Amino acid sequence: MEEELNSIVESAKRNVSAVNSRAGFEAFKAEISGPNGTLTRVMKGMGSVPKEDRPAFGKLINEAKTELQALYDNVLRSIEEAEIAERLGPSIDPSLPSYALGPGSLHPLTQIREEISRIFKQIGFTVAEGTEVETEYYCFDALNTPADHPARDLQDTFYFPDNASFGNVSKKEDERYLLRTHTSSVQIRTMLQDDPPIRIISPGRCFRRDTVDATHSANFHQVEGLYVDKNVTVRDLKAVLDYFFEQMLGKGTKTRFRPHFFPYTEPSFEVDFSSTHLAKLGSEWVEIAGCGMVEPAVFDSVGYDPEVYSGFAFGMGIERIAMIVYGIDDIRYFYQNDHRFLKQFA
Ligand code: DAH
Repeated sequence: MEEELNSIVESAKRNVSAVNSRAGFEAFKAEISGPNGTLTRVMKGMGSVPKEDRPAFGKLINEAKTELQALYDNVLRSIEEAEIAERLGPSIDPSLPSYALGPGSLHPLTQIREEISRIFKQIGFTVAEGTEVETEYYCFDALNTPADHPARDLQDTFYFPDNASFGNVSKKEDERYLLRTHTSSVQIRTMLQDDPPIRIISPGRCFRRDTVDATHSANFHQVEGLYVDKNVTVRDLKAVLDYFFEQMLGKGTKTRFRPHFFPYTEPSFEVDFSSTHLAKLGSEWVEIAGCGMVEPAVFDSVGYDPEVYSGFAFGMGIERIAMIVYGIDDIRYFYQNDHRFLKQFA
């Protein structure tokens, strides 16, 4: 039996070099592993092998099968490679002139991000940076966001394995790393680093376990805003956002605040806007941002005295703004790198 198996493998090795077409390969394989193949016949002989010898015999058959499968895989790969080479034809002509590469341009999301920063700079905001890999503390705890908040759910958030480590993010022993779900963590990083008055925006990339469709992407961008000083009121918040949206979306743009809940602001609002851009989308009011007055518990977690300081915060999606400004109806266009799309913003 063993000899028979050896000779099947050996003869397959000898004959394989003559196989150079798909049809040839099928015939070669059928002769060994087909219904009447040499290997199949040996396997059928299994029934007549004494019971105690069967495990050893089975092992030999498996070894032979593995060797033959490797042989099949190899020969099939070289046949495929040869087919591709034939289809591609003779090698490339290096004397052909290359495509004329026009000058590049900024991605529409970058253009919108720069415009947002430009507008806020006019009224005294600076740009602060955070990190895309965050800790639960910066992303949630310090923002007064309880452990049972849905954003902390494994379903909604990309967590790293417990043993992951990242140089520039400070993490407590039992905390987890995650890809930040919003830019609000930059509020905490900024307040821990600087004393009031604070006036920052922070554009950047965020991540959520969203199923991708026309309006959702697992990877997206937000801009966060934070203003902390003495005697800051909701009126300041409304004035700043009104100014921003009118600059961004054109004269006559209106905003309205609707009461809402965020753990890190009290009171909290959702912001809707109304502008001529909306004619493109066929609606009157569209939700565009979340905002509110910084919750005292957040000041506590960064060591600011809530009796002395007050402030406002806001956050909004950059894709959302870009889609409104440019009349784009599918968020996926931003990430597909399709030149036909991108060149419209050059
Ligand atoms: N972090 C919120 C989100 O991702 C947006 C937000 C709401 C930011 C209210 C804020 C805020 O700073 O005050 O949906």
